[in-house]
Amino acid sequence: MIEASLWHPVAAVQDLAQAPLAVRLLERNIVLWRDGEGQVQAFADQCPHRGARLSLGRVHDGRLECPYHGWQFAGSGQCVHVPALPHITPPPLHRACRHAVREACGLLWVRLQEGDAPLPAFAAEHDAHLRKLNCGPYDVAASAPRIIENFLDMSHFGFVHEGWLGAREATAIDPYQVEQTATGLRATGCKAWQPQSNLHSTAPAQVEYEYEVTAPYTAVLTKVPEAGSTAVQGWRESIALFICPLAPEASRVWFRLAVADFDTPDDKLRAFQHTIFTQDQPVLESQQPKRLPLDLRAELHVMSDRASTTYRRYLKECGITFGVC
Ligand code: FES
Ligand code: CO
Repeated sequence: MIEASLWHPVAAVQDLAQAPLAVRLLERNIVLWRDGEGQVQAFADQCPHRGARLSLGRVHDGRLECPYHGWQFAGSGQCVHVPALPHITPPPLHRACRHAVREACGLLWVRLQEGDAPLPAFAAEHDAHLRKLNCGPYDVAASAPRIIENFLDMSHFGFVHEGWLGAREATAIDPYQVEQTATGLRATGCKAWQPQSNLHSTAPAQVEYEYEVTAPYTAVLTKVPEAGSTAVQGWRESIALFICPLAPEASRVWFRLAVADFDTPDDKLRAFQHTIFTQDQPVLESQQPKRLPLDLRAELHVMSDRASTTYRRYLKECGITFGVC
């Protein structure tokens, strides 16, 4: 399964404190914990001795201790202590199943199998003029590809986000450009007329959008409203959608906001995004089938859906099987 060799976000960095943290990824149980050096480790959440959940145990002396018979595992995965036989040195094969883990964009990312895919790109992360913060997680009863496709879709604005990102009087979508890229797609020249395009907007505005898919379950949008429509001068924002595929039809979602605003409190910035996403969520969860159909004949498409049809083609080409049908 190709998805197993990709990096996926599983938790916010600040959610992992002293105690082991249980998370789910691609229908597997994973335990995250911090070893003696403060390094984050990710193990299969199943003790190799009798299969107990390691996440029910504790971290002791920089080792992860199983809740059942107290076996202790080092950050390397090696079992270093068996309390029932305190004087033996456990052999090298006595080890937990360890996965690669990284930290980026305020999130912890896990890869279940070796692979050469990089972490999904988010260019705005490196722009010092933009402030970053995360919003979420949201647990959504929808497949990751359905959620990505909703994020790329502009023709729902006037209905799902009426009065915010769209209006019933302005639902036409002008032609825009879509190109496939090495990591997904880029859609440029997208325009939307928005009554309230962002938290600081003072007037309805024409907003320029650019979309990018930078990994199978990652999408990024950049939007700039026309000058004079926003209280904050030079307002622009870039939003990454990072999705953890929990199961084929269940996902955990984070938004990484990068905004030209260093003054507004985090909560207020999050509240706007929260309003928008909670408008999307019920519609997303209503879609059938929950898995995204990759056969383009399975659903109907029009010109304005070119970003989504390109996304479906791309998923098919990379051999994605999780969350699609
Ligand atoms: Fe973990 Fe026995 S099941 S120590
Ligand atoms: Co929406």
